[in-house]
Amino acid sequence: MKKKGKLYGIGVGPGDPDLLTLKAVRTMNQSDIVFTAASSKNCYSLAVEIARPHLSKHVRIITLPFPMTSDKTLAQKAWDKNALQIGKMLDQGKTVSFLTLGDPCTYSTFGYILKSLKTTMPGAQVETIPGITSFHAAAARLNRTLVEAEESLLITSGAYGGSHLRKCTTDVRNVVMMKAYKNVKDINVALKEVGFCDNVAISRCGRVDEKIYLDIDELETMNPDYWTLILAGK
Ligand SMILES: C[S@@+](CC[C@H](N)C(=O)[O-])C[C@H]1O[C@@H](n2cnc3c(N)ncnc32)[C@H](O)[C@@H]1O
Repeated sequence: MKKKGKLYGIGVGPGDPDLLTLKAVRTMNQSDIVFTAASSKNCYSLAVEIARPHLSKHVRIITLPFPMTSDKTLAQKAWDKNALQIGKMLDQGKTVSFLTLGDPCTYSTFGYILKSLKTTMPGAQVETIPGITSFHAAAARLNRTLVEAEESLLITSGAYGGSHLRKCTTDVRNVVMMKAYKNVKDINVALKEVGFCDNVAISRCGRVDEKIYLDIDELETMNPDYWTLILAGK
């Protein structure tokens, strides 16, 4: 029986190509195929763009379509289909990488691929190579400590406004709010309600069009795009 291949989930970091790890570069260039995610509407992959300066010309890149939808059935269908395609390559004994933005274990498409793959190919060999998250890059960019001593850090999503924040316990002193691009007004109200007053937002951290918002009120008027997060503190 033919030896099965191995899948590597690789984090390419938040945007600056200098923030890829040596292991990420070495592994993707030793792969037969590099998979990456793109919206179903186009073939653009930001993860590949970030990795491009380090990516060998000999590596085959396959972009997998992922619909940007809140319809769970539709999304599940895409994850299963894409996991199946990756599984086929593993069956052929290929070494395969899946590039993902930031870190593969943090709000990442790779997590969904893994779940589907575990169902369709339970024995698949997988190794995850961590990447620098967007919020670690943002904290570094702002020379801002994320957490110290006995403090806690909450990492949450702002996709539904301030709803997660309102449930946050009183001893959480620091928050990373990702997906802070819509419902910003509600997020801002919730931050004030829960007592966070040392807040800063950053869009497209580490990229040429990076924007820092030292005043979150300003963010409300700017219609920030998807690549925005907030670091909040008490
Ligand atoms: C699906 S999550 C991906 C997180 C990624 N896996 C990570 O480890 O950072 C997408 C969210 O990450 C944040 N994000 C990713 N890259 C960013 C960047 N360069 N600057 C600011 N926020 C970013 C935004 O909040 C965005 O809505």
